[in-house]
Amino acid sequence: MKLIWYLVLVILYALYNTIEGAHFRGGIISWRPLNSTPSGSSASILIHQRYFWNREWSGFTPPYCTEADVASQTSIPVNSYMTCLSNCSSSTYPSSGLSTVMTTTDCDQNTIIESWAGERYDTLTLPLTTSITIGFQSSAWMTALYIGGGQSWSIVNRLNLGLRPDGYINSSPVTNTLPVVFYQINTQVVHVVQMADNDATDILQCRWSNSASGSNYNRVDECGGICSGLPSSTVVTASNCTLSFTLPTANLYYACALQIEDYYSSSSTSPMSSVPIQFLFYGYTASSGACSERPSIIGDRPNRACIGVPIGVQLNETIIIQTYCPGQTIVDLVTSSPYGMTHSAISNPSTNLWTMVLTWTPVAAQTGPQGFCAGAIDNSSLQSDPWCITYLVDYDSPDLIRPTLVQGSASPVGTVFSNQTLFSIEASSTVGRPTRNGTDICFHDADTNVSVVCYDAGYASNLVYTGNTIVIVANYSWTPGKTYYVTMDSGFASGSVFCHAESSPITDPTYWRFNIWDPAVSSTTTTTTTPFTTATVTTRPTSTTSINTLLTTTGIALTTTTAMTTNATTASTSDSTTAASTTASATTSSETSESTVAVMYPKDFENACQQTVAIMTPVFFITLMPVHAVVMYAAFIKISNMFNPAHIQAQARHKRRLRRIFAA
Ligand SMILES: *[C@@H]1O[C@H](CO)[C@@H](O)[C@H](O)[C@H]1NC(C)=O
Ligand SMILES: *[C@@H]1O[C@H](CO)[C@@H](O)[C@H](O)[C@H]1NC(C)=O
Ligand SMILES: *[C@@H]1O[C@H](CO)[C@@H](O)[C@H](O)[C@H]1NC(C)=O
Ligand SMILES: *[C@@H]1O[C@H](CO)[C@@H](O)[C@H](O)[C@H]1NC(C)=O
Ligand SMILES: *[C@@H]1O[C@H](CO)[C@@H](O)[C@H](O)[C@H]1NC(C)=O
Ligand SMILES: *[C@@H]1O[C@H](CO)[C@@H](O)[C@H](O)[C@H]1NC(C)=O
Ligand SMILES: *[C@@H]1O[C@H](CO)[C@@H](O)[C@H](O)[C@H]1NC(C)=O
Ligand SMILES: *[C@@H]1O[C@H](CO)[C@@H](O)[C@H](O)[C@H]1NC(C)=O
Ligand SMILES: *[C@@H]1O[C@H](CO)[C@@H](O)[C@H](O)[C@H]1NC(C)=O
Repeated sequence: MKLIWYLVLVILYALYNTIEGAHFRGGIISWRPLNSTPSGSSASILIHQRYFWNREWSGFTPPYCTEADVASQTSIPVNSYMTCLSNCSSSTYPSSGLSTVMTTTDCDQNTIIESWAGERYDTLTLPLTTSITIGFQSSAWMTALYIGGGQSWSIVNRLNLGLRPDGYINSSPVTNTLPVVFYQINTQVVHVVQMADNDATDILQCRWSNSASGSNYNRVDECGGICSGLPSSTVVTASNCTLSFTLPTANLYYACALQIEDYYSSSSTSPMSSVPIQFLFYGYTASSGACSERPSIIGDRPNRACIGVPIGVQLNETIIIQTYCPGQTIVDLVTSSPYGMTHSAISNPSTNLWTMVLTWTPVAAQTGPQGFCAGAIDNSSLQSDPWCITYLVDYDSPDLIRPTLVQGSASPVGTVFSNQTLFSIEASSTVGRPTRNGTDICFHDADTNVSVVCYDAGYASNLVYTGNTIVIVANYSWTPGKTYYVTMDSGFASGSVFCHAESSPITDPTYWRFNIWDPAVSSTTTTTTTPFTTATVTTRPTSTTSINTLLTTTGIALTTTTAMTTNATTASTSDSTTAASTTASATTSSETSESTVAVMYPKDFENACQQTVAIMTPVFFITLMPVHAVVMYAAFIKISNMFNPAHIQAQARHKRRLRRIFAA
């Protein structure tokens, strides 16, 4: 009997702790239909929750979480529920709600950061009449807050399955943030909250969450104790979700609660959904010994890259951090990961370079976009800019195909005239422009490795993406006799769905080379025998009328389809006698090919391409998944009141009371 009472006591105590402790640190709730095309009167909806907790909260048992919990995907025992809060009769959303027991994704074992984060996906079949507010409301927020410390939390999302004017089922916006972002106090800060939407044409706006349950879109208190949690002078720009503020006090957290909402068009008066995002800022004063430069995360994959990854194949990603001062030590790398991703310890392979290796084998249930973010912190509390990448699970990034001399994928290779302007390269799947600026294609002088001309694929209008092919119209006078090679940044060829999964970077100088015919010397010297400098050029067959045919034009006669090394006399003869006819044939082929000649008008093509993407987007909804948030807890002093003493006393009193009740 005593044992049973003891068990009951333990369970009640655990429940009490779980629901009542001051341990909430924010989160994100979003959703999407598995298939946005309506069929029947209901739809399967994937709902994503992600929450951040105090790792060393009294409700968790020491030694608290470790990286082993990340690897074994331990549940975070916060046994509560996300319930329906408004207009619930319009749906069959379960009255008990969805569990808030999360799968551990990130655990910061470092004693100065202490965070435990997890995420959870649930699929519900709901009627299309569903127009409800769902949310997680409980108590309490962490205590060391500028406003709202120790008070109740409320995080709510509007789930409206009424069909959009275009006839599809809506998907909520997706967002991504550092749950704790460090800013120096008394400094004007401009902070951008990222927001995106799978429905590419939607207009996104963000606003403060508020407690006006009678008048706000969600019809419930959206933020509990942390409404207006930032200094009152903070300004938010709705259209780009930019916050401007100054943090007044050091060593304190500031809670921020926003709703991101999607409108069908700029004339729509009410949004179609409302995604909550709650996270923290932390104010600090830089110590006197601090480096003047913050650490930065560098590497092949740039910030905000999107990478297609297959299911079931282990991914190894190395994060590289650069520091700038002697003694500047990376003490922690705070991460936000999809479940199943594990993190190595931080190593210091060479001076000023620090690395962490991520390994992850995506599973089928993770199909769609999965966000990862990291931020590095040095021993003077300087935080790097966040480095975030999106993995598009079950989607292959386009791969640029290595040019070969015969039937090559790139054109031209071999020897070309100095007036060569058209270049093209093929990828393994349909390509589009990258979504980021700063993805360059560069032509280098092979003698010096100096880049002679670069174009930014983010916007350069002389780069044209068509089907699997990218055409580069280069405006450069090549120097006769010189050899050039081409490099391409990560994402130069990007996929055409959602976040545009990126091709790998090409930095190998032998990947794509060509040399410039020099009339002055080629008649007397023999050319080298390396493949890309042979005097004879091959291209793909010109028998089709597809756009690619046009793009194979090298300006030089193709006298053979076999790679061969000729002596200079042959080359010279070949060039001078047949060049004109080649040019002519290229012209002919451009005249006979159909509307695909639009390739010559980059702007038009770009517009057409955007439409295609917009139309295609709903088709690819199935691959989309809300990008989840990022865990970023960091504290440079141990927050002594992380556990509210009054609260601990209350718990002790409660425990004693229970013991008295059950003592019999
Ligand atoms: C409640 O649900 C009904 C049925 O879907 C919908 O017509 C109505 O607009 C909803 N009310 C609110 C306040 O959202
Ligand atoms: C956000 O929009 C405002 C108003 O249009 C503009 O002044 C500001 O520069 C924008 N911020 C960013 C980061 O784009
Ligand atoms: C990642 O590393 C593992 C173990 O070293 C290896 O088996 C796997 O092939 C690697 N994955 C990739 C994509 O290189
Ligand atoms: C950071 O750590 C290094 C090595 O331990 C030390 O030399 C340096 O003084 C520390 N810097 C600060 C600001 O604490
Ligand atoms: C390029 O130069 C070659 C040889 O000098 C010439 O035959 C050809 O017409 C030129 N092409 C263009 C487009 O100017
Ligand atoms: C990219 O750069 C171009 C030209 O500087 C600019 O017009 C465009 O707004 C930039 N785009 C982004 C996403 O920064
Ligand atoms: C150019 O780069 C290649 C490969 O990185 C290197 O082998 C070569 O020495 C470099 N040449 C010059 C002049 O720097
Ligand atoms: C080509 O480059 C030159 C100088 O670099 C510039 O004056 C000219 O306008 C460019 N032509 C085109 C079509 O971009
Ligand atoms: C080089 O030219 C000579 C004649 O000048 C010819 O006999 C020989 O076959 C040529 N070599 C090649 C590889 O074409």
